[in-house]
Amino acid sequence: YLNYRVPRTRKEIFETLVKGLQRLEYRGYDSAGIAVDGPGKENNGNGKISLFKKQGKVKALEEELYKSGSVDLEAELDTHVGIAHTRWATHGEPSPLNSHPHRSDKNNEFVVIHNGIITNYKELKKYLNSKGYEFESETDTEVIPKLIKYLYDNRENEYVSFSTLVERVIQQLEGAFALVFKSIHFPGEVIATRRGSPLLIGVRSKYQLSTDQIPIQYNCDYNGGVQKKNIINRADSSNSLHSICDRKAVEFYFASDASAIIEHTNKVIYLEDDDIAAVAEGRLSLHRISRSAGEEPVRVIQTLQMELQQIMKGNFKAFMQKEIFEQPESVFNTMRGRICFDTNKVVLGGLKDHLKEIKRCRRLIIIGCGTSFHAGVATRQILEELTELPVMVELASDFLDRITPVFRDDVCFFISQSGETADTLMALRYCKERGALTVGVTNTVGSSICRETDCGIHINAGPEIGVASTKAYTSQFVSLIMFGLMMSEDRLSLQKRRLEIISGLQRLPELIKEVLSLDDKIKNIADELHHQKSLLVMGRGYNYATCLEGALKIKEITYMHSEGILAGELKHGPLALIDKDMPVIMVIMRDACYTKCQNALQQVVARQGHPIILCSQDDAESAKNAYKSIELPHSVDCLQGILSVIPLQLLSFHLAVLRGYDVDFPRNLAKSVTVE
Ligand code: F6R
Repeated sequence: YLNYRVPRTRKEIFETLVKGLQRLEYRGYDSAGIAVDGPGKENNGNGKISLFKKQGKVKALEEELYKSGSVDLEAELDTHVGIAHTRWATHGEPSPLNSHPHRSDKNNEFVVIHNGIITNYKELKKYLNSKGYEFESETDTEVIPKLIKYLYDNRENEYVSFSTLVERVIQQLEGAFALVFKSIHFPGEVIATRRGSPLLIGVRSKYQLSTDQIPIQYNCDYNGGVQKKNIINRADSSNSLHSICDRKAVEFYFASDASAIIEHTNKVIYLEDDDIAAVAEGRLSLHRISRSAGEEPVRVIQTLQMELQQIMKGNFKAFMQKEIFEQPESVFNTMRGRICFDTNKVVLGGLKDHLKEIKRCRRLIIIGCGTSFHAGVATRQILEELTELPVMVELASDFLDRITPVFRDDVCFFISQSGETADTLMALRYCKERGALTVGVTNTVGSSICRETDCGIHINAGPEIGVASTKAYTSQFVSLIMFGLMMSEDRLSLQKRRLEIISGLQRLPELIKEVLSLDDKIKNIADELHHQKSLLVMGRGYNYATCLEGALKIKEITYMHSEGILAGELKHGPLALIDKDMPVIMVIMRDACYTKCQNALQQVVARQGHPIILCSQDDAESAKNAYKSIELPHSVDCLQGILSVIPLQLLSFHLAVLRGYDVDFPRNLAKSVTVE
């Protein structure tokens, strides 16, 4: 966060940073840290940098800031740069020393925050060690501040700008990163860059921004950053952001996600890989080492539509609970403007130009991780039916491990709520290299998967903060079904089926509300189950994905062992687990698998199992054999999974609360898994 000619007390600066971290806490929450100019007021902070780090949640850091008394909180600073980070450990255990910002030396000459992984950090560390640099943490990140100091110390009388130093640093780095740098040698300046990890810049100024794009300076015409007068002059005369904000009051916010800054500004610039953004004297400039073929020489300033209230918890106990209850609207928003219920036409704007190519393909490959993978499992059967194409559903990591053959006439879908999951992103790059058409299905506009795919569908579910994915799943589900409907529009033989599904989709938000009204009943079941160690979830056909997804929700937030079992596999092993003490949830819906599910139910009952059954409202047969039943409204077979997963989302939520766990922050997990 940088304020230029907008006087702010240090307390206000802390508040801005801490609030931003809290909004990003779902990205990692094992430790947090902040660096500000300080400790005094003179010279906008005395040319020193104060660092605060704390293990645990952002709240702990916040308390530390106010009680430490080491900086003057009331000091008003005209220009100031503060950086802050919330960490999810990849190298080195959670501890204050391992948390960010990392520093170059005991004087904090350079401080850095980093998201991602530096894969060649061992070589760099060895080199820097040999040059006498001492390390204090076990992290990969610490090589970065040490390296920039090394380059600064060895600049040999040459004038080197801050951004040139950063440019030299990133030329040495391998891996993924979003980085923000601050230095006592460049007061009032901040440099940010990224490769493989997301980073955006929010701009807030009372002056109207009269342009919607910023030119990129390439090194051939880049003279070392904003310090060189000729660049400033040229920028001044152009219609660019830095001329508009030039020497006028402006604040810049750097963040890995818009939710951290949306309460300050909705004007944002998404950085691309290897962009270097520099702010000095209130001016923002962007540069890159070279221009690659086909690359736009500008970055567009976008206006975000996200509302602050969309990312607040409201009256709910947890974001996850809020997001479960948002599903009538989120599912509606996924369909909004895309399905015409009068003409039964489905148009996905992001795909329509590629539809012909997709129809000619040899097969569809759906790739994702965790819940996003389950959305592929859930829709595979209906996509096979509507597209009449072979459909493979793949876990991104396994797909890569197998070096799966991919061909130019394959169409590969990448399903990802965050749009940043490293495994999925790598699978995307793998498929692209092999010439396949790539389609992103994400919830995050501007994310890496969004940008790197040839075309795609935004699921429009709104921000999902709870680490356990809920509304993104149902919106991914609906998005894939809409794709199937779009593909089958001209197939006469499929029209009846299409109409049935489209009217099912129209009723869906109402039916979801009906399912949500079962919350009390589900809570009662959770009351009975929360002391159990293990929970099996069994079903088949269209509802198998519900079992996988329900079991994943249970294990990730309640820490109970839970397994999703294909009922057809029961007799091949899992039946051995069934006895009077093993809780089993069975999903039995009125579809083509109904009779087979009844057989499975009989086998469970015969072994004194006490099945809790999710069944259709009119299903007396299942209810009769159930220890407890949850009766769900009926929908079209291929949409039923959207309704049947919701009781399991609710059940996992209540189980976690009853077991005393923090639903939104399950241990060892992060919302966005940007490492392999
Ligand atoms: C489970 C969960 C994870 C994610 C997975 C992929 O509740 O959230 O399994 O689904 O990490 O994340 P995205 O969809 O962001 O690629």
